[in-house]
Amino acid sequence: MTTTPTTLPGGTWNLGDRTVTRFGYGAMQLAGPWVMGPPADHDGAIAVLRDAVEQGITHIDTSGAYGPHVTNELIREALHPYPDSVLISTKVGANRDAEGGWPTARTPDDLRKQVRENLETLGVETLDLVNMRMGDATGPQPGSITEAMETLVELQQQGLIRQLGVSNVTTEQVAEARKVAPIVCVQNMYNLANRGDDPLIDDLAADGIAYVPFFPLGGFTPLQADALSNVAARLDTKPMAIALAWLLQRSENVLLIPGTSKVAHLRENIAGAALSLSEKDVIELDSIGR
Ligand SMILES: NC(=O)c1ccc[n+]([C@@H]2O[C@H](COP(=O)([O-])OP(=O)(O)OC[C@H]3O[C@@H](n4cnc5c(N)ncnc54)[C@H](OP(=O)(O)O)[C@@H]3O)[C@@H](O)[C@H]2O)c1
Repeated sequence: MTTTPTTLPGGTWNLGDRTVTRFGYGAMQLAGPWVMGPPADHDGAIAVLRDAVEQGITHIDTSGAYGPHVTNELIREALHPYPDSVLISTKVGANRDAEGGWPTARTPDDLRKQVRENLETLGVETLDLVNMRMGDATGPQPGSITEAMETLVELQQQGLIRQLGVSNVTTEQVAEARKVAPIVCVQNMYNLANRGDDPLIDDLAADGIAYVPFFPLGGFTPLQADALSNVAARLDTKPMAIALAWLLQRSENVLLIPGTSKVAHLRENIAGAALSLSEKDVIELDSIGR
């Protein structure tokens, strides 16, 4: 395993057998409204992806369900052939319907089809990392993950997937998945105001597994809290910067994939995440989600 030097905040993390920057990028917001259809600003979307890689980001998160297929196709247009350093993580387990819903789709046939579609739309022979997404649009739901993981392992053995992760999962499903195959990450909703996974993050850190929070800035509902505004005002920065810096400081196994459709926001977020928060700042921020 090689360690890539980076000037990005947070440094790097060994995601299984690949080294990635802890400051990554989530491509979901590049699709059209409510993650359906093409972006309003196609050239702007391409510019954000290229800028992310030029800034040194080596972890880009996507899914065939975004658009559907829109963010994968944008990533391919902007970045293919991909630099060896860049890891693209995708996820399977849901389709999109005509109303923009996210119906679950995780029979073995569904998963094989989604892996094939991801390979085609990203233009690769092997997917770097596939997250098995469980739950639904409201969050994790109980239910067995074993059959789905076994299907992904079968595709991994065929050389179509390099590494596996899980997403939108309960703690029980993480344990169940790990009985089927090694996983390198868990991608769940987590941010300053949603701290339900605190114990899981610590358990994964002890085992060297990454935790990748989605909606790190609140997703469709940007984070808002008096404590967040107060700390941002005290440090003369914006709340988004504080939210990202806090995540990087939360635990070294936390990898960021904040989304944005704007180069200016991408650069602002990279700069902001480098802030060092004092113990007093962290105590104040911890009051939001506890
Ligand atoms: N596994 C799953 O089930 C799942 C679910 C959801 C998302 N995800 C992944 O997680 C990633 C992150 O989630 P997300 O993008 O939905 O939410 P997010 O990162 O919490 O927030 C993105 C939103 O914040 C805004 N934003 C970003 N930087 C900003 C700044 N400096 N100032 C003001 N606004 C700013 C963006 O608007 P602008 O475009 O205007 O910057 C966008 O609307 C996604 O891209 C996706 O890859 C995974």
